[in-house]
Order: sequence, then C-alpha cells, then structure tokens
Amino acid sequence: MSSATTLRFPKDFFWGAATAAHQIEGNNVSSDWWRREQSSNSGLKERSADACDSYNRYEQDIRLLAESGLQYYRFSIEWARIEPEPEHFSTAQILHYRDMIETCRHYGVEPMVTLNHMTLPYWFAEQGGWKSADAVSLFNRYVRQIAPILYDVTYVCTINEPNMVAMTRGGKEGTNMTAGALPVPDLEIGQTLVEAHKGVCRILHEIYPSMLIGWTVATQAFHAMPGCEQETEEYAWPRENFYLDAAKGDDWIGVQGYLRTFIGKDGPQPIPDGAERTLCGWEYFPPAIGIGVRNAWDRAGHIPVIVTENGLATSDDSRRIDYTFGALQGLKAAMDDGIDVRGYIHWSLLDNYEWGSYTPTFGLVSINPDTFERHAKPSLHWLGEIAKSGIVEEPVR
Ligand code: BGC
Repeated sequence: MSSATTLRFPKDFFWGAATAAHQIEGNNVSSDWWRREQSSNSGLKERSADACDSYNRYEQDIRLLAESGLQYYRFSIEWARIEPEPEHFSTAQILHYRDMIETCRHYGVEPMVTLNHMTLPYWFAEQGGWKSADAVSLFNRYVRQIAPILYDVTYVCTINEPNMVAMTRGGKEGTNMTAGALPVPDLEIGQTLVEAHKGVCRILHEIYPSMLIGWTVATQAFHAMPGCEQETEEYAWPRENFYLDAAKGDDWIGVQGYLRTFIGKDGPQPIPDGAERTLCGWEYFPPAIGIGVRNAWDRAGHIPVIVTENGLATSDDSRRIDYTFGALQGLKAAMDDGIDVRGYIHWSLLDNYEWGSYTPTFGLVSINPDTFERHAKPSLHWLGEIAKSGIVEEPVR
C-alpha cells in the first residue's frame, strides 16, 4: 500500500492568487483589446463586456481571498484607464488603484502590483504600440504618474509575459497563448520591452530603494524529441530564455507555467494522442512549473524566484486541486535542490475573460454572469488552508 505524500513549505513562503485588469474589471473601453473585441472579424468567441465587474467589486474579491487564508493578491493597473488619451492622466483612476492597495492592507493582504498585463491604451497601439519609436519613454512616463501610489508596495511586476507580448505583437494575432500556436517572436519588440522594464526598475528604485521589482515570464517546459536538443535550444531562446537572461540583476524573476511543448526537427509537435487536455486544449501537465522554475533559476543568475501564475482551466474543481498538488510537488522538489523560491501565486482568483472566451475557467472562485455574485470553490478553501499551515497533503479520494 503506498502512503500519501505530504509536502512541507518554509514558514515564510507566501501564497496568493492573481488576476489581470482587462480580464476581470469589465468595460476597459480605452484599451486596444476592447477595440479589437468590437470588430466583426476579431476571430474572438466572446467580448470581455462587464467581465467580473471587479472594477466595482474588488473589495469582495480581496475579502474572499483574505478570508480563505491566502496572503498575496497579484493584480494589475490598467494603463488604458490611467492614460485614456495621450498625456491625459486621470487622477480619479490613479486613486482607484490606490484604493485597491489600501483595501488589500485593510484585509491584511500583501498587494503585488503588475504595471502592464497584455493590454495597451488604444492610442498607443494605434501608433505602433511596442514597435513605436517612443514606446520606452511613453511607458516610463505612465509609470512616473502612478509611482506615488506605490509607496508601500513591496513587490512590483513591470511587464507580464514580455515573451508572449513579443509573439502576439501586443495581442493583435492569435489568442491561443502557447508558443507553438503563435507567430515567431519579434525580438525588436523583445529588446524594447527589456529597455522599458529596465527603465522602470531605475525609476522606481530611485524613489523606493527597497522596492522589489521584477518581470514575469511565460515558461513552456520545452521538451526535445530524441536527437532534437539543438533545435529545442534554438526554439526556446527567442521565446523564453532571452527574457530570463534579461532578468539578471533584477530583484526577482516571476515564473508562470501551465504546460509543456515537444520540439522536433520542424518545431512544435502535436500533443500526444490520448493525453488529458484542459479547457484551453493544452496538455494536463502539472510538472510544468517545476521545470520552468529550474530553467529560470539557471538562466536569470540565481535571483529569487516567485511563481506568479500557475493553474488549470477546468470545470472539475477537484482536478484543479490534483493539478495544483502535482505542481507543488515539482516546485518543492526544485526548492529541495536549493532553488530560492519565495512564494506561489495561483492563476486565477476568479473565473475570468480568457482572451476571447469565458469558457476556460481558471478560477478558485466562480462568477454568476447575471448577478456577478462570487462563489468560492473548494479549491480556494484548499489553497487557503495550505497558506495557513505551509503543509500540503496529497488529495485522496
Ligand atoms: C497570462 C494570463 C492568462 C493565463 C492563462 C498567462 O498567459 O498572463 O493573462 O489568462 O496565462 O492563459
């Protein structure tokens, strides 16, 4: 008879859940994504519309997170709301996000603030977005405007998944966010993103020397088919490793991982026949995050690692718990091998707008689309209890 596994995480290891503005707030009307959703040939299944109405209901979201026992809330500030027209900065919107930070404090939750999560102000996208000549200075200008509200925030993420941004060119192509399904990354955009990121690190560190700043990279656990190690190395570099290498010297590196991708002589291979799939169509592969963390640690020069996203799109919440247990096993094994991992942040707190569709449900909390009522799933309780004790028991059914 095999005995159930128990994982014990360090006392100071932190636990949380993440969201992103466009995916939960609703009516993000000044953004490039909103415009794209309205077009008749967007290729998207659904529009974001009211999303989870979190623009108005963030207090409930934060309260639910706090009551479960989770300690960190990773959320993003929406540039398109702060600067809906070039150089028109909205004080009211800046104060809205200040209020979110204060609401976290009120409930004893540590806010981790992302400054850009995929979406851009429409006017900026129209002038070329990350390809425009003054992209770096425009992003830095936006950050200077919001810097005053960040005075008590410890963890700041500058740009979410710069590698995905360089592949989607700011979200204009494709919605299946996997490297295999996306165009070849534009390294000119990649370079601009590195400059924008390093610029923000300098600006914020000058004002707040003890702030801990990093960026979060999508890792895809690339697996070489037999004899394809060289091809895999070449495939992974512009899609993942370039961005991990660029994190050298940062305060931390955020690792996000969900799946693996097999690489053969002619690139990404189909998911093996018979493999379990998630609601995104991805392979169910819990070890992904442990592999991503190991690679990030090596490439980024042994800076502290934080898991900033990991989770499963499923309608079966018990499978979410299984997946997360498997992911935590891989993570703990990496930590036992000496990797400095500071915390685990689950994607996502809420069932939300998954870039074109509400069908792939990643949430620890479900939303009634008619009333916006929140309903905590068993997985929220499960993860919250883990946050309180640091102990993870293998799910037994
Ligand atoms: C992104 C999220 C997205 C999640 C699941 C990450 O690529 O940061 O915005 O919803 O993965 O696809």
